[in-house]
Amino acid sequence: MSGQPVARGRFITFEGGEGSGKSTQGRLLAERLAGAGITCRLTREPGGSPGAEAVRRLLLEERQPFHPLAESLLFAAARADHVKTLIEPALAAGEWVICDRFIDSTRAYQGAGRTVAASVIDQLETLAIGACRPDLTIILDLDPRLGLTRADARRGASGAADRFEGETLAFHERIRAAFRAIAAAEPARCLLLDATADKAAVSDRIAARVSDAFGITPGSGAAP
Ligand code: TYD
Repeated sequence: MSGQPVARGRFITFEGGEGSGKSTQGRLLAERLAGAGITCRLTREPGGSPGAEAVRRLLLEERQPFHPLAESLLFAAARADHVKTLIEPALAAGEWVICDRFIDSTRAYQGAGRTVAASVIDQLETLAIGACRPDLTIILDLDPRLGLTRADARRGASGAADRFEGETLAFHERIRAAFRAIAAAEPARCLLLDATADKAAVSDRIAARVSDAFGITPGSGAAP
């Protein structure tokens, strides 16, 4: 006998430039949702599944440059693996998924940053994710000068910058503008927040939007 059909889980993504605090806010939201009895799968891109983590190492540790189209295809390949093997099955089983970076990072970094044509980015996006679109996207907005300083500090003296952190300020400014444009174009999906605001206040704004969007009140989340 089959039981009740399981309600599909919610898919929430976090986006923003370097050092914008996405990972911290994703974790805080997962903790707050756990307080409301909702278990979340916390994951990230590039990566998240074994195959996609292998592509991540190629993208972030390999020192050879890639042509921008090849780089875009690699992010799409990692994403397809992640969606098919982790995100889609989790959502279908009723789990919520919180993902640190997703399609908007490709639009911003490869589209605006590397100037790959929007038509190419769109085709890759459709191929990689099909109908698996985020229900909600939180975009943390930050001046890249500040974000890169934060990312440098986090890495410490010994850590080398990856292929994106070492890019020019102009590159990171294009990325910031692209994220802001996405938020303006898709207000029903995206919430743009000032990443310089107090961490607990940002977390409260996110929880309020989750509550509005899904009718669930995340727990209060003790300030870290
Ligand atoms: P990561 O170490 O995860 O950094 P962060 O903490 O900033 O998320 O590195 C991921 C890098 O990959 C980051 O610089 C953004 C870049 N990226 C793209 O260029 N395109 C993409 O589609 C994704 C998902 C990430």
